[in-house]
Amino acid sequence: MKDNDGKNVLITGGAGYVGSALVPKLLQEGYNVKPYDLYIYGDVFSHIKDNPNLVQIKGDMRDGEKLIESAKNVDTIIHLACISNDPSYELDPTLCKSINYDAFFNVLEAARINDVKRIIYASTSSVYGLKKEKNVRETSTCEPLTDYSKYKLECEKVLLDFGKNHDIEHTILRPATVCGYTPRLRLDLVVNILTIHALINKKIRIFGGTQLRPNINIKDMVRVYELLLSAPKEKINGEIFNAGYQNYSVEDIAKIIEKVIGDPEMIFEYVSTDDIRSYHINSNKIRKVLGFKPKYTIEDGVGSLVDAYKKGLIVDGLNNPVYYNIKMMQKINLK
Ligand SMILES: NC(=O)c1ccc[n+]([C@@H]2O[C@H](COP(=O)([O-])OP(=O)(O)OC[C@H]3O[C@@H](n4cnc5c(N)ncnc54)[C@H](O)[C@@H]3O)[C@@H](O)[C@H]2O)c1
Repeated sequence: MKDNDGKNVLITGGAGYVGSALVPKLLQEGYNVKPYDLYIYGDVFSHIKDNPNLVQIKGDMRDGEKLIESAKNVDTIIHLACISNDPSYELDPTLCKSINYDAFFNVLEAARINDVKRIIYASTSSVYGLKKEKNVRETSTCEPLTDYSKYKLECEKVLLDFGKNHDIEHTILRPATVCGYTPRLRLDLVVNILTIHALINKKIRIFGGTQLRPNINIKDMVRVYELLLSAPKEKINGEIFNAGYQNYSVEDIAKIIEKVIGDPEMIFEYVSTDDIRSYHINSNKIRKVLGFKPKYTIEDGVGSLVDAYKKGLIVDGLNNPVYYNIKMMQKINLK
């Protein structure tokens, strides 16, 4: 029998960038939390490892049996696990498809066998691809540009289909790019990477500059998952939600960073790029349906990175594979 009043959560990929902020917050809120992760980026929960409500599971998404075993007595699965950026995906497309797409069926099977009540799926706002329209909403057409986004969208379809045949609540989140400091930090995301370059090199390299990028602060990202965990079924079941806050051009983001760091010697360097991804997401639906109002800005995210850097919490920020998914994938040669 399940205990803790429906508050038993398994988080695949729970030791990643988002998970490393989400897991401690859910523990604080009284959830029992099981991160299920390969721990590619190391032990990120040493500071909370003795919490009796935390059960860490080192497992592979592709190991269906282990996932089924791990999802016993679980009420909600938040599915974050993923090879989560385009360059990492391109390194070994077959491997990545096996994790990002094929293993998604293991999540559904583990949920079905264990009578899990709810599945929350982390998709991405990059499923929309390049858009001319100002406001990209959940109903806008999806034209994913990369395999990473394409398989995110495929999993969405699989989940919606699965939901028609099984009595399991399910919801899809399409987050903007996350920014800010977490114990498992990613410095391959636009705000974070520009900030670390500005801190270390006193130079902000702007690739392109006019592309619009939607952003969300990690603290708001965590708040969104909390909302999705506790929202009533009728508000979230079968629904797709964008989750973003400030849609800024890369150049505007650079200016914010310059302002927060406040170094008069900061140099801007413009570099041409073939990364033309530019999109602007509208997040009115999540505000209207779930009452989600973002509280934290890009400035706050940059500020958290600057603080962490000054405290020595970011070590060798330009080269350390632990901060760069592609570098880590090259280093570990996952099979
Ligand atoms: N961070 C963002 O800006 C952002 C934006 C939109 C969507 N998302 C989505 O949110 C989710 C979390 O993103 P993140 O930034 O925390 O990513 P991340 O790369 O930091 O974390 C992914 C985690 O999955 C784990 N993992 C990878 N392969 C695995 C496997 N085979 N078995 C078990 N665990 C495995 C890794 O060890 C890692 O801890 C992802 O699905 C991502 O696509 C993230």
